[in-house]
Amino acid sequence: GQLDKGGYPHFMLKEIFEQPDCLTNCMRGRVNVDTDNVVLSAIIDYKKQLINAKRFIIVACGTSWHAGQIGKQMIENFCRIPVEVEYASEFRYRNPVITSDDVVIAISQSGETADTLAAVKLAKDNGAFIYGICNAIGSSIPRATNTGSYIHVGPEIGVASTKAFTGQVTVLTMLALALAKEKGTISSSDYLEIVKELHEIPEKMKKVLELNDRISELSRIFTYAHNFLYLGRGYSYPVALEGALKLKEISYIHAEGYPAAEMKHGPIALIDSDMPVVVIATHNAMYEKVLSNIQEVKARKGKVIAIVTEGDDNISRIADEVIELPTTIECLEPLLATIPLQLLAYHIAVCKGKNVDQPRNLAKSVTVE
Ligand code: G6P
Repeated sequence: GQLDKGGYPHFMLKEIFEQPDCLTNCMRGRVNVDTDNVVLSAIIDYKKQLINAKRFIIVACGTSWHAGQIGKQMIENFCRIPVEVEYASEFRYRNPVITSDDVVIAISQSGETADTLAAVKLAKDNGAFIYGICNAIGSSIPRATNTGSYIHVGPEIGVASTKAFTGQVTVLTMLALALAKEKGTISSSDYLEIVKELHEIPEKMKKVLELNDRISELSRIFTYAHNFLYLGRGYSYPVALEGALKLKEISYIHAEGYPAAEMKHGPIALIDSDMPVVVIATHNAMYEKVLSNIQEVKARKGKVIAIVTEGDDNISRIADEVIELPTTIECLEPLLATIPLQLLAYHIAVCKGKNVDQPRNLAKSVTVE
């Protein structure tokens, strides 16, 4: 009923707005700025298995797989351990190479996704150590793993995942930081800076949520579209994938997420004045390159919605619409950049009169193959 939605018209919007509190809960007792420390109990209890991993294999589906793509980049960057990210449904059926030197990270909001559970069992039978990142306490996947960390974001009701995604990315960030510290693969200044910034993310998320009215207005302009392209690079590439998935799931507009530089190898052929292109163009190492991708889109009359870092005046001159985010460290940008994309998908779907909490053909947890 209305009460459960906390005054919001839909669970999805309520869950989008809960994210600052969810992340505070997710980090409670785990991220301590006073002691400059990140503590995950799983890492204390199973330190040997985790720091000696020769490789991580992340298995997941849907939005959880996108979180895994961000986790891969952080673990490889900070811990210097190779990471593969696998669709659980593919992994389980293709006779994958799994050894006892592997640590498999299973990411699942529901903890019940059939393919992810099967991938966990397969990996376990082959001697891998299994670490779960789940939301639903006591669900099947956490019961099948050796250890894990809950994301603690509370029940997610909207079929399109929102707060679980940012919770998963937060746990992966804590995991990467804690492991890197144990392994000595991160400088103490980098570590301290990221811990400090991570702690500030909930406050910065609140700032991003203040953009809701602006995004609601903007969404009306784009309800006409039959296709959307989402572009990002580095840490923003999985954000582009997730933004496109949100739009597909609830508005039924076809959308594709792409690494920005790959656009020239295909999707650029689709760009004309009817094509909205959402570009994550925050101020980081890839900025100049993404800026030139925006120019390529504009040269073909595409409509650019740019997600930028506050104070950016280059992009505001060429993009059709600009959404500004507070500054943060590059690896934490996904936690902020995802929010406007969730809101954009939400408002477009609402404008089109779609059932955002229960989109057609989709299930909250897919317990069959
Ligand atoms: C379904 C849901 C998605 C979710 C995916 C994986 O498709 O609709 O929102 O991302 O399953 O679910 P899991 O519970 O394993 O994260």
